[in-house]
Amino acid sequence: MTAEPQFGKPVRILGIETSCDETGLALLELGPPAQDGQWPKARVLGQALHSQIDLHKTYGGVVPELASRDHLLRIMPLLTTCLEQANTCLDEVDWIAVTEGPGLAGALLVGVSVAHGLAAALNKPLMGIHHLEGHLLSPLLDAGSQDLRFPFLALLVSGGHTQIMQVDGVGQYTLLGETIDDAAGEAFDKSAQLLGLGYPGGPAISKWAAKGRADRFEFPRPLKNRPNLDFSFAGLKTAVLTQVQKLQTPPSDEDRADVAAGVQAAIVDVLVHKCMAAMDQTGLKQLVISGGVSANALLRDRLLSAANKRGAKVFFPPLQLCTDNGVMIAWAAGLRLSQSVVRPEAGDPQIMARPRWDLASLAP
Ligand code: KG4
Ligand code: ZN
Repeated sequence: MTAEPQFGKPVRILGIETSCDETGLALLELGPPAQDGQWPKARVLGQALHSQIDLHKTYGGVVPELASRDHLLRIMPLLTTCLEQANTCLDEVDWIAVTEGPGLAGALLVGVSVAHGLAAALNKPLMGIHHLEGHLLSPLLDAGSQDLRFPFLALLVSGGHTQIMQVDGVGQYTLLGETIDDAAGEAFDKSAQLLGLGYPGGPAISKWAAKGRADRFEFPRPLKNRPNLDFSFAGLKTAVLTQVQKLQTPPSDEDRADVAAGVQAAIVDVLVHKCMAAMDQTGLKQLVISGGVSANALLRDRLLSAANKRGAKVFFPPLQLCTDNGVMIAWAAGLRLSQSVVRPEAGDPQIMARPRWDLASLAP
């Protein structure tokens, strides 16, 4: 089905996210595009989220088969919770938006299949959304981001991605640099695993680091001084392993805290350095940070002060939208509708699970 956005009345968008280990549903109400170039007003009417952290933590990482089964188990009850919270029913939904990719194939298939089923049963249009576009545009949902304008820079830092993009408009993303091996979130997760701090590693490292001395152990900052905007975090895992092997077994709490502080400092240092280099290279003075790692308090502080010194501004998503959720998917769909950049496949049965999907390929 094809459908033009009807902005005479608010548009209600159901967002569905199942790309990894969070099942996220949200119903977002989007007002008309503001005349003065402001982002459209949006209200989250209902949202339901289930994290599979407990399911995967014994394995130290996400087990794809378990993830798909759990999405299947959770998705319909979460839809009911979301609609109850919004005090509405499916008939009141105008659009359905679903994460098509990238992510785990089996996990994506659950969300995409449910979305197709709902769209067909309700005779509503369906839009496929790129997961990273959801992260990338989520800071715009924050009331403090009303003065953010295109073009801007964006740092996407999650468990699977570390990329610096230039954003010229909705759907117009140019990759400026990315990790050549592990993602920043992966570096947090693997370091936490080596220290026996549990999963997911980012929040655990950040908590332990608060009690540690960042200067006791020196960890590498690969590619930091190269002029390009690429990252490399694989060597950090080896450095942490080597350091942990030199400590007593199991490491004392003090050792753990000091290693955690050192690793966090190394990751944050490189991320901040490359973001500032991106500003210098492009001349852009607005930077959006998103993805799970954007919840990191040290990263937020360091970016804010470094940007401040350059007279630049940094925008973060609200904390509860840093990790995967359905709201960001509905919001990305809403921005596409409001800017009339609905991908040609909107409502098309070709909307499918795309485990590998390049964000830059969304360009109109
Ligand atoms: O975006 P996300 O929820 O899922 C992916 O698409 O990957 O990101 C999850 C990643 C994990 O690697 C997790 O350890 C990291 O985000 N993370 C953090 C923090 N909270 C989550 N990393 C550092 N500090 C945090 N506070
Ligand atoms: Zn994500």
